[in-house]
Amino acid sequence: MTWHPANPIRHTIPETRWPTQAEAAASLLFQPIQINSLTLEQRTWVPAMVPWRATDDGFVTREVLDWYGRFAEGRPGAIVVEATGVRDVASGPLLRIGHDRFLPGLRDLVETVRAASDGHTRLLIQIIDFLSVKRRPEKSKYFARFLSVGERHRRTLAQATEDESWLAADETNMRAFLADAADELIEKVLDERELESLRKGYRERVTDTHLAHIEELPRVLPDIFAAAAARAREAGFDGVELHYAHAYTMASFLSALNTRADGYGGSRSSRVRLPLEVYRAVRERVGASYTVGVRFLSDEVIAGGSRLEDAIYFAQEFARAGFDFLSLSKGGKFEDAAAPKVGHAVYPYTGESGYECMPTIRSDERGPFSRNVPLAAAVKRAINSVGFHLPVVAAGGICTYEQAEEILRRGEADIIGAARQTLADPDWFLKTRLGKGDEVRRCTYTNYCEGLDQAHKQVTCKLWDRVQLDKPNVSFSRDARRRLLAPEWKTEG
Ligand SMILES: Cc1cc2nc3c(=O)[nH]c(=O)nc-3n(C[C@H](O)[C@H](O)[C@H](O)COP(=O)(O)O)c2cc1C
Ligand code: SF4
Repeated sequence: MTWHPANPIRHTIPETRWPTQAEAAASLLFQPIQINSLTLEQRTWVPAMVPWRATDDGFVTREVLDWYGRFAEGRPGAIVVEATGVRDVASGPLLRIGHDRFLPGLRDLVETVRAASDGHTRLLIQIIDFLSVKRRPEKSKYFARFLSVGERHRRTLAQATEDESWLAADETNMRAFLADAADELIEKVLDERELESLRKGYRERVTDTHLAHIEELPRVLPDIFAAAAARAREAGFDGVELHYAHAYTMASFLSALNTRADGYGGSRSSRVRLPLEVYRAVRERVGASYTVGVRFLSDEVIAGGSRLEDAIYFAQEFARAGFDFLSLSKGGKFEDAAAPKVGHAVYPYTGESGYECMPTIRSDERGPFSRNVPLAAAVKRAINSVGFHLPVVAAGGICTYEQAEEILRRGEADIIGAARQTLADPDWFLKTRLGKGDEVRRCTYTNYCEGLDQAHKQVTCKLWDRVQLDKPNVSFSRDARRRLLAPEWKTEG
């Protein structure tokens, strides 16, 4: 179940007028922009999107190459490769950059994008750390194996059942009793965190400092990120984007919910401390001229979470530290995520914060289009007002030339990010630039793609994954029903 606003309004894709080739050539959208030593040919940007195409041990596959090669054919200014793990630990079919053995595949990826865009598109890679998230257990298994039974449980169980014999009861009996107990009783016996582990699966937090590997994060992460960034440079990427957004480790340090008492939580200045230390370690390894940016949240959209004022503070600190660009996202948190089915992991895009991250057509009166741009604009104004002018990337429901050009003209952002519209039509930037905007396949913002991501299935778009299946060289998804890539533009129709 994915969250939607109450009484949603079903919006329609905005009518739009596409530019002629001459208009496009004179537009802001298709003007170059400088990011540190990097020049983007145009201000179009494909933000990170995980397509579930890596091997189970994190290597680049033919399908990964094809996915990015297909985006590159549309010649955007830049593509950011999906969230790629900085550690050398098993993490399922997500790309990894935590060891030199990943370098050959990543080099191929750089070469593929260079060739497919004829050298026009710059390639960055998003690097991420995340904590452990377990699948939701069977109730019986949770009580038999996972609950750590202590005095507190004996007391609360004795109280709730008005039966003192539980105070000295055999642990096996307690486990068996609780496994069959009604929800009402379980809610009296377990604390909030245990209830969450039962109903959503166990999830580590940066505040679990009683665990040695969580306590030591500030000591280990700077080097791990720095080594990953150095590998990105060695593989030939034009830059790295540090993933400080959504539900993952670095965003959790920035979060207002981070109450660590070791100088890395609590006040804004303590919460930003590790993100800045990671940045400095990265910068030291990759040098002053290499492009290092950050993706972070303009608003966490969760109770007690960071808001726009926090984002503005962080943005100014990031700018002062020397980051080369700021890419704003919104929400996408675990805290308000829906309970998954038994055997599945909680997905951070199912609550309100997830909705705000990838807003759909079933929306409130504001609708999904350019929905998060005012927040990016506020961040940009705030950094500009203190004398920083590093580029700001905005994303969220941007799908027309008119929207993009307006955002740039009003100075609300410097670069236009479009994730789902580019998935719907990887050629849309090229079509627009060539004056063929009326051929753009328009995203309908119903989030079929996000549903596939949630199910850890190879991500495709409903507008093209069942068409022209009989053409030669079509590669199919593992379920053999969907094509994995958008049809070639020139052979369409
Ligand atoms: C399938 C899918 C995977 C995504 N994976 C990532 C990711 O790896 N890192 C990230 O920062 N954002 C990720 N996002 C969020 C997008 O980058 C983007 O912020 C969001 O979709 C809103 O932009 P849009 O309205 O242009 O789609 C993903 C989005 C989708 C649809
Ligand atoms: S599946 Fe739907 S939301 Fe996703 S890119 Fe395609 S049209 Fe857009």
